Amino acid sequence: MQKIKKITPQILKKLKEQRKKIALLTAYDYPIALVEDRAGIEIILVGDSLGMVTLGYESTLQVTMQEMLTSCKAVRKGAKRAMVIADMPYMSYQPNNSLAIKNAGKFVGEANVDGVKLEGAGPMLNRIKAIVDIGIPVMGHIGFTPQSLKKFGNYQVRGKNSKEIDKLIQDAKALENAGVFSIIIECVAEGVAKKVKKEINVPLYGIGAGNDCDGQILVVHDMLGLFPDFLPKYVKKYAELSIIIEEAMKKYIQEVKLGKFPDKEHSYR
Ligand code: KIV
Repeated sequence: MQKIKKITPQILKKLKEQRKKIALLTAYDYPIALVEDRAGIEIILVGDSLGMVTLGYESTLQVTMQEMLTSCKAVRKGAKRAMVIADMPYMSYQPNNSLAIKNAGKFVGEANVDGVKLEGAGPMLNRIKAIVDIGIPVMGHIGFTPQSLKKFGNYQVRGKNSKEIDKLIQDAKALENAGVFSIIIECVAEGVAKKVKKEINVPLYGIGAGNDCDGQILVVHDMLGLFPDFLPKYVKKYAELSIIIEEAMKKYIQEVKLGKFPDKEHSYR
C-alpha cells in the first residue's frame, strides 16, 4: 500500500513560499471528509458553522464542545491526507487559559485532530500562546468573526477604512507572534488581504476576502448548494446538490407509491 504524505504546517509554509495556492473546505461528517480528502483538499476545517448548516441553529453561538467533538471524530476517520482543524466553539476558550488548554487538548486527544482554530486577537493572544506552548498548532481568524456577532450586530464587511485596515494588520502580526501556523481572514474589502499578507510570513486564507490570499476556504454546504437559509455574496456554488437530492427523493417516492421499488434486482432470492 502506498504511504500517504500527510499535510503539515511545514508543507503549507513551503506551498506559500512556492506561491502555490492552498485549498480548504469545511466538513462535518465522515462521507464528505472522505470525498474532500480524495479530491485533494489540503486543510479540512470542522467549522462551528456546523451549528447553522447541519443542525439548523440561528448562529454559531449555540454550538457545544460535544457537538464539535463528535463531528471532528467522524471527519478524522475520513481524512487521511488533509490536515484536520477543529474550530473551538463559543466559550470553550474565551474565559481563561486553562479552559482553552483543556478543550484544545480534548480535540487532539479524543478526536485526534491536527490543530485548533480560535477567533480574534487582543485578549485571545494569551489563549493562543498557551495552546501553542503545549504543542498544539493553532490557526487564527480575523476580520468578521462570527462568535462576536452580538458585538458587531450583523454580518458586516471589515477593513472599510484605514483605521480598520491598520487594526487587521496589527492583529495578524500579533497572531503570528503568538505562534499561529496560519490565519483565516473573513469578509474584508477587496485589497485589504493583500496588505495584511505583505506583513506576515504564515499562510493567509481568505473567505470573502478577494483573491490575494495564499488560499481560500468555503463552507462545504454553501459551495455544494446544500444550505438554503443564507448565501453570502462571496459564495460560489459549484453544484446544486439540494436539487439533485430532491429529484432523487421524488423519484423514490413515486416508485414506492407505484409499487415499482423494490424490483427483482433489489430483492433477495
Ligand atoms: O465555522 C466556519 O466554518 C468558519 C469558516 C467560515 C472560516 O469559521
